[in-house]
Amino acid sequence: GILLLAFGLLFFASSVFAAGETNIVQTVSPPADSIKFLFYLLLAVVGAIFLIVEGALIYCMVRFRKREGDESEPPQIYGSKPVEIAWTVAPALIVFVLFLVVLRSIVQIRKVDVPEDALRVVVTGHQWWWEFHYPELGVTTANELHVPIGDDENERAVFLDLQSVDVIHSFWVPQLSGKMDVVPGRTNLLWFATKQPGLYRGQCAEYCGTQHANMLLRVVAESPEEFERWAAQQAKPAVDDPKVAAGRQLFMSLACMNCHTIKGTPANGTFAPDLTHLMSRQTLASGMVENNPKNLRDWVDNPQSIKPGCLMPSFQLSSKQLDDLVAYLETLH
Ligand code: CUA
Repeated sequence: GILLLAFGLLFFASSVFAAGETNIVQTVSPPADSIKFLFYLLLAVVGAIFLIVEGALIYCMVRFRKREGDESEPPQIYGSKPVEIAWTVAPALIVFVLFLVVLRSIVQIRKVDVPEDALRVVVTGHQWWWEFHYPELGVTTANELHVPIGDDENERAVFLDLQSVDVIHSFWVPQLSGKMDVVPGRTNLLWFATKQPGLYRGQCAEYCGTQHANMLLRVVAESPEEFERWAAQQAKPAVDDPKVAAGRQLFMSLACMNCHTIKGTPANGTFAPDLTHLMSRQTLASGMVENNPKNLRDWVDNPQSIKPGCLMPSFQLSSKQLDDLVAYLETLH
């Protein structure tokens, strides 16, 4: 009992006092609000039951303890119908009420009528990164989901079609919504809507292989104007800078182009993240390291040293080749 309580408190503390960006009670979207309400309600109900039961237990242990010199036999009781009925009906009623409340939340979270102005994004889980495709905007990016915020009149909902190309993943951004499995061969729906601009962190929540813990993602919620600007830039093909022709040539002659897409070039692979606007992203390796020139060079040099088991191989490049390649990648704004 004590051990369970300790684990419970530890979990509670780690979830509630976690860094703001993954905190499960600092919610900014209706589905997450709904889950937070359930969390507090259940905590209050089971907390009250715990206090009553443990309180009664401790009271009885003290009040009816064996006293010195008292050898008399306590009263022997052989069942009581009213008491048995009471302790059967009361928990059943509590469970039934909680069931109804949970049902209401499930209906709220599983909104199936998609509003007309909703932003649709196809999310594809890969081992071990996220692909975000905006079909109406012609934008494909990775690991960083940009969404517009709504205002008081218009709650701009974001509807995600969740798909997987390999194993089961789970999409989870605690401040925005609950978890939803990402299952190969089917499309699951998840939605959220926020009026609060900011960065919300999430991660894969279903074990999917070696680098499951490093399958991170970010949601950038921004004003509709900023979002439009971002989307317009992302929809453009890469600008071909003649100054980095050597690196570009290398990218197209190595196997890079078989897996990666760079719009406006022959590279159109789909196994790996679209790199057309790589430099617009905050991180590399699906949220593992900051996107800066040194990390980019280390990543291209030996991805396995940063993310062991990932599907990107090392190409054993010379220092000069690495410099050329990274110089080219750095033009992909
Ligand atoms: Cu993907 Cu865990």
